[in-house]
Amino acid sequence: MPNGSPQRDHWSGRLGFVLAAAGSAIGLGNLWKFPYITYQNDGGRFVLIYLVCILIVGLPMMCAEILIGRRAQSSVSNAFGTLGHRRWNFVGWIGVLSGFVILGFYAVIAGWSLNSFYECMKFSLEDRYVKPDFGNFVTNGSHQVALTFSFLVLTALIVVGGVSRGIERSTKVLMPVLLMILVYLAFSVTQLEGFGRALRFLFAPDFSEPFKTHGALEALGHAFFTLSLGMGAMITYGSYMTKKEKILPVSITIVLLDTAIALVACVIMFSIIFSFPQVEADIQASTVGMLFITIPELFYNDMPGGPILAPLFFVLVAFAALSSTISLLEVIVSSFVDRLGWTRERSTLVSTGLVFGLGILSALSLGASEPLSKLKLLGESGLNTIVTADKEGVLSILDHISANWLLPIGGLLITIYAGWVLPKKISLEELFPGRETPPWQYKVWLFFVRFVAPAAIGAIIIAVCRGDDFS
Ligand code: PHE
Repeated sequence: MPNGSPQRDHWSGRLGFVLAAAGSAIGLGNLWKFPYITYQNDGGRFVLIYLVCILIVGLPMMCAEILIGRRAQSSVSNAFGTLGHRRWNFVGWIGVLSGFVILGFYAVIAGWSLNSFYECMKFSLEDRYVKPDFGNFVTNGSHQVALTFSFLVLTALIVVGGVSRGIERSTKVLMPVLLMILVYLAFSVTQLEGFGRALRFLFAPDFSEPFKTHGALEALGHAFFTLSLGMGAMITYGSYMTKKEKILPVSITIVLLDTAIALVACVIMFSIIFSFPQVEADIQASTVGMLFITIPELFYNDMPGGPILAPLFFVLVAFAALSSTISLLEVIVSSFVDRLGWTRERSTLVSTGLVFGLGILSALSLGASEPLSKLKLLGESGLNTIVTADKEGVLSILDHISANWLLPIGGLLITIYAGWVLPKKISLEELFPGRETPPWQYKVWLFFVRFVAPAAIGAIIIAVCRGDDFS
């Protein structure tokens, strides 16, 4: 049984792993992306499809990825080879590619949190709130590039420090504080008049057209994105896990935490949007800016403690994003260390440099550079409508391609591997060590990984390619 080299770094214990993995999962996907794509997809039905995807695809895949990683004790680009299936290593490389693509836009949005922190700090100190001009902010190229750069440097500084010292220590403090603030905000918005409408918008799906696939691929893609699945982040983190930990309960905890935070973030944001008509108008002008527009509005509108909480909130958004960018960069860096034999320092430097190159293109694609902002990956062809759903601009294209295609396809391959290629003896040993006969939970898991998850992913992809609905 491969146990990895004795020097291989490991999490110090169960809490360390759970928080780091939850830190990877919980990020801008929950706080920034989920609320705005829910808004664009008209709430209820989208939320329901998303929850189904989390349950039937996300949870089984979370177990599958962690178990592959822990068994292999290797970076994602070599994990399948270490387990005796070298031909599958290409799946790991797709993961590394996804890491670049996601970081290439994620770092830009993460940079926005630094800016919001700075602005809120200013408002609070000057005791005066001026509604920030979001449109102006995103089109300011040098500002965008500088923020992206700062965020990537922060990420690189932690990744270069290694797993237990760098990554684990920071997440242990930050995640619990973020949770507390969110709970406080959730209680405050129950007082707003838009609260009831927000709940109806989110949790009362409209079934007037039951077979519409509208938004289904996006919901599936987002389930992968938000749980950091389909690109090997959880394989990589699983590889730093010791044999003592139990994979199933840990996976359930991560999935529950991530889902709860996404839903709470939505409730908070929609309560605000539906309470202040002016905010709704701003959001329609820039759905992407939702998180950064609505929250200051709440804090500076007579909220007790608002001026203190506002900057704190954005520090925490930055940290949630940071614990995710760390995992994204770690997928790339660990692969370079393992496969190219480079030092951690060199791998971090080179990969951060490459990501920054892509980041510059994204940062300038929000209006600063016309060609980058209007870029269409596949021109005017019909394929453009299917693959990029008519998205324009480097940032949107990177986001769309990674979440809607790279992650579901990577996920499909990983679930096929875990269900059909990896010997059952190994998955049983990892999930339920010491059990000779598989318990029912194992059988359920295997059924989902073998049949349900591949069928769900396949069905959605086929439906979209057939042209049922492209958006
Ligand atoms: N899960 C992260 C989020 O929700 C993003 C992410 C995707 C991180 C893939 C790692 C891998 O923000």
